[in-house]
Amino acid sequence: MKRLEGQIVIITGGARGIGEGICEVFCREGATVALWDVLDGKEVVTKISEKGGAIFYQKVDVTNQESVDAAVAEIIEKYQKIDVLINNAGVIRDRSFLKMTREEWDVVMSVNVDSLFITAKAVVPHMKAANYGRIISASSINAYQGAFGQANYCASKAAIVGFTHSLCKEVGKYNITVNAVAPGFIKSEMSDSMPEEVIKAGIAMIPVKRIGTPEDMGYAYLFLASKEAGFISGHTLHANGGSMPS
Ligand SMILES: NC(=O)c1ccc[n+]([C@@H]2O[C@H](COP(=O)([O-])OP(=O)(O)OC[C@H]3O[C@@H](n4cnc5c(N)ncnc54)[C@H](O)[C@@H]3O)[C@@H](O)[C@H]2O)c1
Repeated sequence: MKRLEGQIVIITGGARGIGEGICEVFCREGATVALWDVLDGKEVVTKISEKGGAIFYQKVDVTNQESVDAAVAEIIEKYQKIDVLINNAGVIRDRSFLKMTREEWDVVMSVNVDSLFITAKAVVPHMKAANYGRIISASSINAYQGAFGQANYCASKAAIVGFTHSLCKEVGKYNITVNAVAPGFIKSEMSDSMPEEVIKAGIAMIPVKRIGTPEDMGYAYLFLASKEAGFISGHTLHANGGSMPS
């Protein structure tokens, strides 16, 4: 039996990087996945569908309540439920603090933090009605250790942990768990944009001596999304190859 057989899952930011890895792993495990992104997700949908995965693309901006509500309404009309919400979409606007603009701060807060309010507002009522749900959001190792030029990003990823701790206390009685994954250094367009020597130095500091893959992250999310993880809530799973033992 596949672990997510018959489950309806939303994965935000699924058009590339870690989100694509989560889509792949979840589809292999039998989920029906709604891939949400502002980028075109059709290529990922075609690739995964050709391998037999059940996945469809909805163009959704997670900073926009109407966009999210419309996509949720479509899913509910077709499937009558949402079992899992993965808040993976995120952005960086790195700059040292004295040069950072208010706009760079606001964009990061909007996509990385406001989006959690927006998606949860739309999805939690349906999970409550079904008396079942899994909500898992992307934090980061940098929420815990900080990073030069990332005051906005680190603040946003720490906020996600606070949101997770709080929401889990409110919705646990509806059999909804709320957790976060804090990825370490993972191969993606985000990390590919870094200079090669920075990537090499980063890998040298990881105890397992390799960069993480989107598929590695897919399995971390899969564990928390599974029915078997029903007694784990308010937790942040550190998936970083041992870089920051927790
Ligand atoms: N790559 C890493 O090393 C790393 C480490 C720690 C945490 N993370 C976190 O994991 C998540 C995924 O990271 P990634 O490296 O795959 O990033 P990525 O930039 O490759 O992918 C992010 C996706 O989110 C989408 N997105 C951005 N704004 C959106 C919006 N308003 N609405 C809908 N979709 C939107 C993008 O279009 C993109 O497809 C992010 O939240 C990131 O902060 C990544």
